[in-house]
This record gives sequence, structure tokens and C-alpha cells, in this order.
Amino acid sequence: MSINIEKLRQEFPILQQVVNNRPLVYLDNAATTQKPKVVMERLLRYYETENSNIHRGAHFLSSQATEAYEQARKTIQRFINARHHYEVIFTRGTTEAINLVASSFCKKFIKQGDEILISAMEHHANIVPWQMACEDYGAVLKVIPMNEAGELDMNAFQQLLGKKTRLVAVTHISNALGTINPVKEIIDIAHARDIPVLVDGAQATPHMAIDVQAMDCDFYCFSGHKMYGPMGVGVLYGKEKWLNEMPPYQGGGEMISEVRFDKTTYNELPFKFEAGTPNVADVLGMEAAMNFISSLGHEAIAIHENSLLQYATDRLQELEKIRFVGTAKQKTGVLSFLFTDIHPYDTGTILDKLGIAVRTGHHCAQPVMDFFDIPGTVRASLALYNTREEIDILMAGLQKVREMLA
Ligand code: ALA
Repeated sequence: MSINIEKLRQEFPILQQVVNNRPLVYLDNAATTQKPKVVMERLLRYYETENSNIHRGAHFLSSQATEAYEQARKTIQRFINARHHYEVIFTRGTTEAINLVASSFCKKFIKQGDEILISAMEHHANIVPWQMACEDYGAVLKVIPMNEAGELDMNAFQQLLGKKTRLVAVTHISNALGTINPVKEIIDIAHARDIPVLVDGAQATPHMAIDVQAMDCDFYCFSGHKMYGPMGVGVLYGKEKWLNEMPPYQGGGEMISEVRFDKTTYNELPFKFEAGTPNVADVLGMEAAMNFISSLGHEAIAIHENSLLQYATDRLQELEKIRFVGTAKQKTGVLSFLFTDIHPYDTGTILDKLGIAVRTGHHCAQPVMDFFDIPGTVRASLALYNTREEIDILMAGLQKVREMLA
């Protein structure tokens, strides 16, 4: 079933806005996606009719909210096809999910001289927590290199896996390049040596169906706001066997079984990792976003976005002195580029004046920019509500940039 984009856009009130006297063209979806009415209505309904602290009160509202929150966990379990609902841990987002693993897994399993393997195209959120853990435990961070197209060197990956490798942490889709990494292959190769794999799925969940059991990843991290849900909420999926072994990440209410001054025992999964009052409303908003995606269907979304990416790539190629950064054979809706004679920031500023929202800079992936020896890129990132007309407006905007600055 194909998507009726014009009708769909009505579900996103923000897209109807005028910015700098022009209709908004929103192409910064890898930074955050806009929210459909169903998500905002869900937040409102929660605060109007259900708001209460969960897992605590014996009263009506508290049991309503608890029921809704735990139901959302089951929706999310189905969305990513986790084996158990208690393998879904709510976090503030992908960054916190990775930090949780870096802190807790490393505390238990990493010692002096061990190695953690990441890739050359990671977002800072999948670099810095591992650097911090390596510093704490005297471990070594190793990096899988990539080629000029922005594809991982799988031979180098195999060679980097050694007796001391304790964990591999890679992104599913690069936020700066759009590369879709062969995560299943990476996981199979790592598992052949009994090495667990964490996948940063922040950029993947809005674009493709995720099946953590088929992928067989040990951890999968993602954020609500990149998939049409609210900010400040996300998920750590972890295999039960690891989560059971790992110590709590934060202490507080909810994560305990019994507290005595001489000894505290911890709650079972998933509560062991959910200290304090959770972000109930946004969990429900994230659930609404997933239902929204499911109602459209991943296949229809992918068909639309892939055809748009192809169209945009073809059109932008017509421009003089354009350099694309990230030309992997397997990629999703990210166009990272720069004019070789114009600073990306200047391009972005003029596009903004024309009502076109793109991101410029290093995209929280400075090592990627260093690899390509550039100060940054202009990044147009696509979502299911973008249209060919918007790509034409971007194209006209870029032509204007050249007229003004080349
Ligand atoms: N990680 C987000 C991006 O790529 C913020 O823009």
C-alpha cells in the first residue's frame, strides 16, 4: 500500500508553518523528526486523564497509568520483536542507553588490557562512553576503519577481533553518512568468537523494521524522538542473559527489592534499570509513534523514502562543485554534501533564509569529518512526509547559494 503524502502531511501541524516568509521545508529529520497529531494527543490524554505515579499508588489513576506504561512496554517489545517484555528498558534516549551499557556491562565484564571495538563512523554517543569506560578500567578502544564511500572494512573488522575483545559497538545507520551497516554479518562474526554486540539503532528505527531476535544483537539502543515520538525517551533492548548479569546503573526508588542500611537487594528486570519516577507520558507518546509507523507499514515507508533519496541524489548531482560525503551502496535517507568552494555553514545559513531546515557541521561525528578532511557537511535528511517538491525547493535554494557565494 502506498502512502498518500499530502493527506499524511496534514497529520503534522508543524509542517504547515511559514518560516522566513516561506513554507517550511523540513529536512533535518536525522536530528529529530516532527510529531504527528496522534502522538501529541496521546501526551495530552495522559496528562488530562491518567497522570499519576506508577507502580506505587493503590488508587485508580495509579493503576491506570501503570497498566498503560506496561502495555507500552509490550507494544515496543512487539515492535522490535524482543523475546521478553522485560528486555525493554526505558531510558532518556539512545545516549543514555549506550551509557547504561558502557557503565554497567563494563563494570562487570571489562578489565585491564581488554578491548572494545567500535567503528570509524560512530556518533559521539557511541564513542565517548566507551572511551570513558576504557579510561576507568584500563581497556583499549579499537576502531574498524571505513573506505571513501563510507562503508566498513569487513576484512579489517575480522582482523581486529581478538582474544581480548569483550564487546563490539556499531551503528546500524550512520547519522552523518546514511550508510546502512551489515549488522547481521557483524553480529554473526562476533558471536562466532562469543563476543557480544551493541547496535546503535537511533537512525534505523524510523526507516526500517527492526527484529532484534533475527538480528541476534545483544543490545539495541534507540530514541523516541527520531521516530516521530517525543524527546527525552528511548529504549535499551538487552538480552535477558546480559541484563541479569549486569549491575544496576543508577540507584533509587523502583530499582530495589528491599532496602536496609546494612544491605539492599535489587528488583527484577526491567525495574532494576529504571530508578526513579519514569517518563510515563513520553513512553506512551513513543508507543503512539510506533503504532503510527506500523499503521503506514515499514515497506511503504521504505519505498517512499528510497525513491525520494534517489530523486534527491540525481537532482543534486546536477550542481557544480558538489561533493557527496557518504556514497555507500546500502544507504538510507541522508544526503551529506558540501560545495568544494563554499563553507557548509554559509550554505546552511542561506538555505535557512529560504525556509529550508538542514543541519550543517560535524553532526556529532567529528572523526568522520576528520577522515574526509572536511570541516563539516550540509546534511539533508529525509522522513516519510518529505516530497519531491521539497527536493526541488532545496535544489533551487542550492542554486541560489551558488549564485550568491560561488
Ligand atoms: N544525532 C543527531 C543528528 O545526527 C542529533 O543530528
